[in-house]
Amino acid sequence: MTTRVITNISELTTNDPTIGDCSALGRLFDAALVIDDEQVLWVGASADAPDADDVIDAQGCAVIPGFVDSHTHLVFAGERSDEFEARMNGVHYDGGGIDRTVAASRAATSDELRDGTRKRVNELFAGGVTTVEIKSGYELTIEGEKRELEIASEFSDEVTWLGAHVVPPEYKASRDAYIDLVVTSMLEACAPKAKWADVFCDRGAFSVDEAREVLTSARAKGLAPRLHANQLDHSDAIALAVELDCASVDHCTYIDDRDIDLLSGSATVATLLPGAEFSTRSPYPSARRMLDAGVTVALATDCNPGSSYVTSMAFVVAIAVREMAMSVDEALFASTKGGALALRRDDVGFLGVGARADFAILDAPRAAHLAYRPGGNVVASTHRAWRP
Ligand code: NIG
Ligand code: FE
Repeated sequence: MTTRVITNISELTTNDPTIGDCSALGRLFDAALVIDDEQVLWVGASADAPDADDVIDAQGCAVIPGFVDSHTHLVFAGERSDEFEARMNGVHYDGGGIDRTVAASRAATSDELRDGTRKRVNELFAGGVTTVEIKSGYELTIEGEKRELEIASEFSDEVTWLGAHVVPPEYKASRDAYIDLVVTSMLEACAPKAKWADVFCDRGAFSVDEAREVLTSARAKGLAPRLHANQLDHSDAIALAVELDCASVDHCTYIDDRDIDLLSGSATVATLLPGAEFSTRSPYPSARRMLDAGVTVALATDCNPGSSYVTSMAFVVAIAVREMAMSVDEALFASTKGGALALRRDDVGFLGVGARADFAILDAPRAAHLAYRPGGNVVASTHRAWRP
């Protein structure tokens, strides 16, 4: 296997607290990294770097662990910029437009869905993402959900079945019949194609009891649970996520002290998706309250055509810093290690010895430029470890 040394790194963020300044970010300055095709072999001072087959000179730039985007809906057809414009003029987001994407996605060929997914995956990767979770949820039929999961699997191992996104139009008058279909034949067909199950548990989508039923059935079929909760309204959805030991509960825009208490005593990560609040002109989630209470926080794009057509993790970091009072280091950690924790992965999101060789070299001396230069091309190159 070829070894490679990345030298002359001005600021290396490892997220390994045993390295460098021994903070959570595990920072080293004037650093080097040695990798093989798969993993990190050595981390230390540039002056002490061992020889390797190849050398990459980082030229005094910062290196960060690859972003782990733990929440996306990349498999869809069409676009809904008209809804975005209406929202900017005061119209409220209620998820109603999901039906339009369902209609467009059902009408699309598999090649069209695949090409659109590839384009968005490539945009994410170019911006420093090295691990991406991808959900189904825009066809809401047995065959359609299966095909979205198959397409998602071409791009990621972190594939999530979201058959319970909303009740599709043809079942609006008989929602119980849709839930029956979801927990029986749809799950039967889809469980072998996914790793995770998710439900949109919110006003206008599914209730807490319905979400419990779907996630419990999914778990019995071998899928691990995660949950969309409290994007539009407050409910007991976060309590449900903790009750079911969801890896992550996502959005958390409406949250109270009890939710924060439950989360801080749990292994459930709160994944915040500020691209959605930005694009729906909604209040941002209270990241500060969660972090101060010891809740593990992740940041992700939520890339989808309705509430957050965002394909840049750097942009998400910038919003979290500017609008949610997260420090740059907290936002960087949440978008790398936090995302890994939200996917229960212990091989990505950090750059200690044994981690996957997934990293980004920035066109900047410090990682703070991710938030300091919003909208700029701060990520110079993305490196992903070889995957079988
Ligand atoms: O996470 N909230 C549910 N699902 C997506 C939005 C879907 C859409 O509007 O198309 C979200 O924000
Ligand atoms: Fe989402």
